[in-house]
Amino acid sequence: MDIPGAPVMTLEDFRMIKEFVAENFGLLLENEKEGYLSAKLLPRLEELRLSTFAEYYAYLKFAPGGAGERLKFISRITNNETYFFREEIQLRVFAEEALPALKEKKLRNDDRTIRIVSAGCSSGEEVYSLAMLVLESGCFAWNWDVKITGVDIDPKVIERAVAGVYSGRAFQSTPGQYQERYFRKCDNGFHVKDSVRAMCSFVQGNLLDLDDIVSESEVDIIFCRNVLIYFNDETVRKIVENFARFLVDGGLLFLGHSESLSRITRRYIPIRFPGAVVYRVRG
Ligand SMILES: C[S@@+](CC[C@H](N)C(=O)[O-])C[C@H]1O[C@@H](n2cnc3c(N)ncnc32)[C@H](O)[C@@H]1O
Repeated sequence: MDIPGAPVMTLEDFRMIKEFVAENFGLLLENEKEGYLSAKLLPRLEELRLSTFAEYYAYLKFAPGGAGERLKFISRITNNETYFFREEIQLRVFAEEALPALKEKKLRNDDRTIRIVSAGCSSGEEVYSLAMLVLESGCFAWNWDVKITGVDIDPKVIERAVAGVYSGRAFQSTPGQYQERYFRKCDNGFHVKDSVRAMCSFVQGNLLDLDDIVSESEVDIIFCRNVLIYFNDETVRKIVENFARFLVDGGLLFLGHSESLSRITRRYIPIRFPGAVVYRVRG
């Protein structure tokens, strides 16, 4: 609903911003998102004292402060919903199938490094859940080098991930023993303990351009859950084929339970587990 006296987003404004979002972030804005976008961006227009969305678009695209505004813009339009131990079946496959197999493979090659990436990590719950599962698995003792890197385009969620303080809904699926073992109470909630944090790092970045964040053929497992639903098929193909470059031979890709690569690319072999599909990159 339009607010009386407030700038109105025209179809042309929406088309331009939609194209800008697709080009720069790969995100797909459905046509019915016009009202949503307008409501999310109105406060920015007010703060910048701009009177039309066309002016805002020009500012975003061409102004000297445009790069900073692009980060604020993306923070406003992304969906950052996440919580610890989300989609438990996949996490069970990770802990009970993927980690033991990875350990065996690494030992055969006399290699004690494990690299995991959470692409679209939001405020860090997924990254810390994976780290807790690595610790609980008992697969990797002190002489292993395990690193889990979270990447997200939204700088605000990366800040929260680095802070590592959580409360309320973040714990909606957390088994009690994990909260006791891996968090300590602090003023604003619960702080992730150092034993977990030591394995984790966070970087603000775009999935469409991971080259500065990870190296080719370096990553054992990529989690990219509940992110690709916001992209069109062509962009999903580009992203997952790009992931394939960073994965080691036989590396695994975990997607959200409603996300599938079946019509998208043949770069991965689906491996079916009860209730979950994991994708192994083809050699
Ligand atoms: C719904 S959250 C999913 C968080 C977590 N993976 C989970 O399953 O709970 C999606 C995240 O993807 C991020 N995202 C969207 N487009 C992105 C892009 N092009 N590059 C990096 N992150 C992106 C959003 O900022 C958001 O935090």
